[in-house]
Amino acid sequence: MTRINEISSPTGYRQETRVFKRKWTFLVIILVAAITLNISVSVLKLYPLQFSPSNPSESGNQAAPWQQHSPHKHSDEKPADKKQFSPRQLVHDNSKHILPKQSRPYTDRSGREPLYKKKPFFNKHFSNQERFHQTLSNKNSFGKQVTLTEESEIRQVVFAKVHKAASTTLQSILLRFAMARNLNILLPAMEKTSSALSDRDWRINPEDIIEHPQGQPFDILCNHVIYNHDEISRYFPDSAVRVAILREPLKQTLSALAYFTQKYPPAAMTKGFQKYPYDPINGFLNHPSDFYDPNDIYGPGGSYINNRMSVDLGIDGDDFESTKKNMSKIQAFIKQVEEQFDIMLISDYFDESMVLLRRYLGWSMKDIIYIRGNVARVREQSVWSHKPILTPQTQKTFRQWQRIDYELYEHFLPKFLRKIGEEHLFEEELNTYRKVLKSVHNFCLDDEQQDLLKIPQSDWTVEFNVSRHMCLLMMLDEQCLVNLAKERQLLNLDKKRGKKKNKSS
Ligand SMILES: *[C@@H]1O[C@H](CO)[C@@H](O)[C@H](O)[C@H]1NC(C)=O
Ligand SMILES: *[C@@H]1O[C@H](CO)[C@@H](O)[C@H](O)[C@H]1NC(C)=O
Repeated sequence: MTRINEISSPTGYRQETRVFKRKWTFLVIILVAAITLNISVSVLKLYPLQFSPSNPSESGNQAAPWQQHSPHKHSDEKPADKKQFSPRQLVHDNSKHILPKQSRPYTDRSGREPLYKKKPFFNKHFSNQERFHQTLSNKNSFGKQVTLTEESEIRQVVFAKVHKAASTTLQSILLRFAMARNLNILLPAMEKTSSALSDRDWRINPEDIIEHPQGQPFDILCNHVIYNHDEISRYFPDSAVRVAILREPLKQTLSALAYFTQKYPPAAMTKGFQKYPYDPINGFLNHPSDFYDPNDIYGPGGSYINNRMSVDLGIDGDDFESTKKNMSKIQAFIKQVEEQFDIMLISDYFDESMVLLRRYLGWSMKDIIYIRGNVARVREQSVWSHKPILTPQTQKTFRQWQRIDYELYEHFLPKFLRKIGEEHLFEEELNTYRKVLKSVHNFCLDDEQQDLLKIPQSDWTVEFNVSRHMCLLMMLDEQCLVNLAKERQLLNLDKKRGKKKNKSS
């Protein structure tokens, strides 16, 4: 019934790591060049031109593959299937969803209605065929594009950036999407050096962010902040789609341990490392509390290694150790996450996650291409290359330590896989996506001859070009990309102010 088994291997992070290794010198040269040329300014100017959604009339009268298989002429099942799960069906609205009951549609000060209605992600078939066909036939342009038109793509996304769960890659996708469309991104204030809004706090102070353009909600959130539904709702409409991501807890925790011990260690983590300098991984797995300070002023969130995914998703930090032992409390938290988020992605299936996200949000394949960054590089002889030794006792200790994260992950993983199994022609799209990603990698990192990579039209994408400029953006590290987004945001703010001044004078 499901096709889960055929989605065999988790995403190939390692492949990208290797490519990065080979090409890091190239990257550094590009980045240095970019900085010296003050390229950010020219990027700001060029970006809208290069990235503006393609004008439908440009694609001329060329028919999309399924146009020859109009459902009215043929009863051929396959093409109909293809249409069935096109993101357009997001429009169907007569189904219950998992939003909290009390949510109300957001209306901003100008009284605009939300652009779209949210639909459920899990446990629902996208099968409202009749409504779907109706929507399609209202659009004369259908058939010219596989992707959605501008109006129907979802542009308001709140992403809970869970630490060490491939979330920087998704952040890059979201930032590039937002910049290409001039959306309002909730970003830390210009003078803040960290790209996080906050690593340890759920509060978003107006002074700590780049000004809220008056009378308008923000569109995109993708910088670190502890998720708090009420706080987020002060800045985002309820109709903004809430997205989160989880990773297998052992991998996630070890990744966080290695990363933070080497980069930004809390005091307790340094102490733990000093206790097990020759094998911190197994030292941690057997004695996690040696790396943890229960009296940290920031609470469990100060540690990065104590159920950090749950912390990022907004678990109550009070009485944390007793929550770990109380299943009914854990279940209440899982229920809260289920109600507050529309989509739960799984980083161990990153490409699958991106395809699901694309389908849900009505985005195009061009919007989800990426080159993975922020992957910790571990030298062979480093103590961080040690394999975890998972005896039954270690596993038991670690599971107890990360109990909430395990329960969370094991709740959402099967749902996610079931969802993939229910999607139509999912693997077909996934394979195309991976081929596209591969050629983007080769173009951006290896092939230095061409100026432009042309991705041909297929059942899953319209034709599009990848430029050197896009490569550069995809390869920018988190800090640079966030800075670029900040500069853009300020430029927009200045423009708005300028207009107001002109009007009033
Ligand atoms: C578990 O949590 C629930 C809800 O907070 C509480 O009523 C119950 O007494 C707790 N159970 C234990 C064993 O602490
Ligand atoms: C891609 O670039 C080529 C060459 O500049 C151009 O002819 C073509 O129209 C571009 N395609 C798209 C979809 O923009």
